[in-house]
Amino acid sequence: MKMPVALVWLLAFSILLIGGEGSNAVCKESFKLDPRPHSVSILEFGAVGDGKALNTLAFQNAIFYLKSFADKGGAQLYVPPGKWLTGSFNLTSHLTLFLEKGATILASPDPSHWDVVSPLPSYGRGVELPGKRYRSLINGDNLIDVIITGDNGTFDGQGAAWWEWLESGSLNYSRPHIIEFVSSKNILISNLTFLNAPSINIHPVYCSHVHIHKVLIETSVDSPYVLGVSPDSSDNVCLEDSTINVGHDAVSLKSGWDQYGINYGRPTTAVHIRNLSLKSPTGAGISFGSEMSGGISDVTVEHLNIHGSLVGIAFRTTRGRGGYIRNITISSIDLSSVDTAIFASGHIGSHPDDKFDRDALPVVTHISMRNITGQDIGLAGNITGIGEAPFTSICLADIHLQTRSDSWVCSNVSGFSDDVTPEPCSELMSSPSSCFGGGGSIYGGDAAAQSW
Ligand SMILES: *[C@@H]1O[C@H](CO)[C@@H](O)[C@H](O)[C@H]1NC(C)=O
Ligand SMILES: *[C@@H]1O[C@H](CO)[C@@H](O)[C@H](O)[C@H]1NC(C)=O
Ligand SMILES: *[C@@H]1O[C@H](CO)[C@@H](O)[C@H](O)[C@H]1NC(C)=O
Ligand SMILES: *[C@@H]1O[C@H](CO)[C@@H](O)[C@H](O)[C@H]1NC(C)=O
Ligand SMILES: *[C@@H]1O[C@H](CO)[C@@H](O)[C@H](O)[C@H]1NC(C)=O
Ligand SMILES: *[C@@H]1O[C@H](CO)[C@@H](O)[C@H](O)[C@H]1NC(C)=O
Ligand SMILES: *[C@@H]1O[C@H](CO)[C@@H](O)[C@H](O)[C@H]1NC(C)=O
Ligand SMILES: *[C@@H]1O[C@H](CO)[C@@H](O)[C@H](O)[C@H]1NC(C)=O
Ligand SMILES: *[C@@H]1O[C@H](CO)[C@@H](O)[C@H](O)[C@H]1NC(C)=O
Repeated sequence: MKMPVALVWLLAFSILLIGGEGSNAVCKESFKLDPRPHSVSILEFGAVGDGKALNTLAFQNAIFYLKSFADKGGAQLYVPPGKWLTGSFNLTSHLTLFLEKGATILASPDPSHWDVVSPLPSYGRGVELPGKRYRSLINGDNLIDVIITGDNGTFDGQGAAWWEWLESGSLNYSRPHIIEFVSSKNILISNLTFLNAPSINIHPVYCSHVHIHKVLIETSVDSPYVLGVSPDSSDNVCLEDSTINVGHDAVSLKSGWDQYGINYGRPTTAVHIRNLSLKSPTGAGISFGSEMSGGISDVTVEHLNIHGSLVGIAFRTTRGRGGYIRNITISSIDLSSVDTAIFASGHIGSHPDDKFDRDALPVVTHISMRNITGQDIGLAGNITGIGEAPFTSICLADIHLQTRSDSWVCSNVSGFSDDVTPEPCSELMSSPSSCFGGGGSIYGGDAAAQSW
């Protein structure tokens, strides 16, 4: 039985698409967005919006007061136009933080206004420096039902000082993020602008049901390792309808670091990412890893425009990570002015300490990329697996890149491609069987190989 290649692909992708229905549906879940029955303004707590007065206590007192509304339908904290300087503060459950048009929450650039907290258990230490880390500007710990929104109000992380301290080696603890939720669920972040983050802009970790939409994230090009949105050991995450221009990766999926991430064992899964405009002059539009020790799976990415970036789509890992990156479906991507369109490497990333297990090899498999176009691309693909753990089932279809040098660089990888220009390396033209659904699939394994 010989089947035309196009038909084989159609079948393969319909299997993947049916299979992908799970994470495809994440963005369709809607949150109950009843207005909160109570609302107070930060002015009622003595805040001054002149950009000079420090309002940390006003925010802390307001949140403390609003805690008592948790069992009464929750409450809204309203932030009127003005520049509201503050150090870090906690949120509470059943809360809406609403930033009016013209309201800017300005992060204090004085490290003494930021608490220092323990590292995340899945990282075992601060990411930039061993030991503790600064708590984020806005924190949610073990919360449920929190909305941060507004009529395009702004969080300004005033990160320049932090970038300078990182680069000059004068930081005492790892840099803070703008928003971090830990072990929380039912979180919505929308209609906001984020500027100049010290480190990550939005970091949900150990969270479920997180919906981020209509955000604009901008950070100066020379901000070192600043990430846009980084879902980390979290599930049921939707990120959509947003623009992210940052120094490093615009979107970065993670799940813990080496032995700490393996032991914590919480994957990032059921993630749906769509309709984003991304730019990352020194990083990737979207990246997986390099910290992925808890596993990353069941991710659907579609309708991205990635421009002016070092890398379009990146998969990064290394020995010692363990974990996996699998069942990732990426489609309908427009790339322009990107040095390397598709990058995957099993030799990227450092270790938290020297206690990592060299035999903990990461598994990278079942990655499908389809309907990708690119203008002004340097290298089409640079894919380097690990000798003892090659990347497998890397499946490419309908990919057309205008490259400056028509090349794919491949090693220790296998997969299949159809209708891809420039023509990929032979490793990616091996056997179509590698690109069909799991063992149970009717076109799985040898049957498909024979029909080829
Ligand atoms: C903020 O939350 C953390 C963790 O739940 C807690 O340890 C800390 O005391 C809280 N800070 C304030 C000011 O409430
Ligand atoms: C939100 O505000 C930023 C500037 O703070 C502006 O660049 C952006 O266009 C605004 N977005 C919307 C949807 O109005
Ligand atoms: C680091 O700590 C030292 C000693 O406490 C202090 O002088 C310095 O200002 C701190 N640096 C930063 C960037 O916080
Ligand atoms: C976000 O803004 C749009 C209008 O720009 C509005 O329709 C929508 O309800 C807002 N979302 C939230 C959660 O406030
Ligand atoms: C894509 O996102 C933009 C905001 O960045 C929004 O204006 C547009 O309506 C979205 N497109 C679709 C098809 O939802
Ligand atoms: C792939 O991911 C989807 C959800 O995105 C899930 O429904 C499906 O079962 C996964 N397939 C495999 C083979 O794990
Ligand atoms: C292919 O991607 C483009 C955007 O890059 C999109 O407009 C088009 O609908 C996609 N086609 C299919 C068949 O998904
Ligand atoms: C491919 O990526 C590796 C890093 O994994 C890098 O060392 C190498 O220079 C890249 N090759 C090309 C041709 O860009
Ligand atoms: C695969 O990786 C091993 C170990 O890193 C290396 O020695 C070998 O040359 C690689 N294979 C190819 C085909 O590049």
